[in-house]
Amino acid sequence: MHFYGTAAKNAQGHLTIGGVDATDLAEKFGTPLYVMDEALVRKNCRAYVQAFKDYYPDAEVAYASKAFLCTAMVALVEQEGLSLDLVSGGEIATALKAGYPMAHTYFHGNNKTVEEIHLALKSGVGRIIVDSVHELELLNLEAGELGITPKIYLRLNPNVSAHTHHYISTGQLDSKFGIPIEMGLAMDATRLALSLPNVALTGFHCHIGSQIFDVEGHRLAASVMIKFLADVKAATGFVTTELNLGGGLGVRYTAEDTPKRPGELIKVQTDSVRAACAEYGVPLPKLVVEPGRSIVGEAGTTLYSIGTVKEIPGIRTYISVDGGMGDNIRPALYQAEYECVVANKVDAPAEKVVTVAGRYCESGDKLIIDAKVADNVDTGDLLAIFTTGAYNYTMASHYNRYPKPAVVFVADGNADLVVRRETFDEMAAFDLIPQRLQPKVAR
Ligand code: LLP
Repeated sequence: MHFYGTAAKNAQGHLTIGGVDATDLAEKFGTPLYVMDEALVRKNCRAYVQAFKDYYPDAEVAYASKAFLCTAMVALVEQEGLSLDLVSGGEIATALKAGYPMAHTYFHGNNKTVEEIHLALKSGVGRIIVDSVHELELLNLEAGELGITPKIYLRLNPNVSAHTHHYISTGQLDSKFGIPIEMGLAMDATRLALSLPNVALTGFHCHIGSQIFDVEGHRLAASVMIKFLADVKAATGFVTTELNLGGGLGVRYTAEDTPKRPGELIKVQTDSVRAACAEYGVPLPKLVVEPGRSIVGEAGTTLYSIGTVKEIPGIRTYISVDGGMGDNIRPALYQAEYECVVANKVDAPAEKVVTVAGRYCESGDKLIIDAKVADNVDTGDLLAIFTTGAYNYTMASHYNRYPKPAVVFVADGNADLVVRRETFDEMAAFDLIPQRLQPKVAR
């Protein structure tokens, strides 16, 4: 079994994370429960910060909130000195609620609403990453009305394919994200941005995809972007001072995954930037990266209680847990694979092959197919699924009206609730019954 971060086992053969026994966590906070290893999140933040200190000091690391966000996470990110990548009005509101210094934020989105644009402008986000010509014109208009001149980047599509699942690949030409460099579209948008009075073009952005192991795509994208900066300089005289290369570094979900460390990716990107700047004759820009998954992915573990154990002789054994696609949609959506352990039986021989099923009313609600678990796994045991820190809580749904689980941060033997568990009442709290549907007779 692979232990991530501070995960270990104690004398009772229980999984511990951050020095806290998983069975105590389950007892105190209930299941399903998202557990975040704070020390590992900090270590990952520091790995990025250190890599830039080593290779390219004029840089900023902006944590991609979409991977995992709550106000405590904002506070942690701020403590670690990271900037924030935000992608919706809700994420902006969360950063504001946590009192984050908004000048250090980057606001994304391929279809920002007028309301979101207003919120971004009024809350003073640091850079607005403009995704299309439509948005550029809209932003210029709204900013003019408010008398604010936002600093903007244009998100470009570098036409670089990342080797990852096609649902999370974004840098290829046929993508809803960004303005293609091909066909002169990005150059046209750049000229337009430079001509508009109410936006201040400051830099460019690209993001080629997510869960990437082969950093060749990152190397190529960096060089394609620098070549574009050179073309812009030649065509317009505009010298770009900031370049945002997005996120995308993969993490380990199973033994097959062999991710690069942040330092390796940053070395590849910064080498590529330096080489291309020398080749094309442009000054080195300030660099920004936006890691999400590689900050929080491996730091998250979800704890579930095992209920039904169903053996179909000669076919399969299902163990059903008290969560599933509502708290982790990734297996159903991307065929994502995970590893698990029976958290109260870590020492037991683990050769039993089972399918971990969720409780949602959907055949596809399987969290792990053919997981190896403790031979003596049984109803009432606690199952821990690893690497659930990224794109689990943030993609959770209320399907079947199950409340979303709680989130705890663990560190140094302490566990703190950072998002409390929702209640059944809260599930129905937004519902309204129109007069004509009010029950007339008591049943
Ligand atoms: N920057 C931009 C503009 C992005 O679109 C993303 C992710 C990131 C940064 C962070 O990428 P990361 O370092 O986390 O790979 N729900 C999918 C992943 C979607 C990624 C969306 N964009 C999943 O569960 O795999």
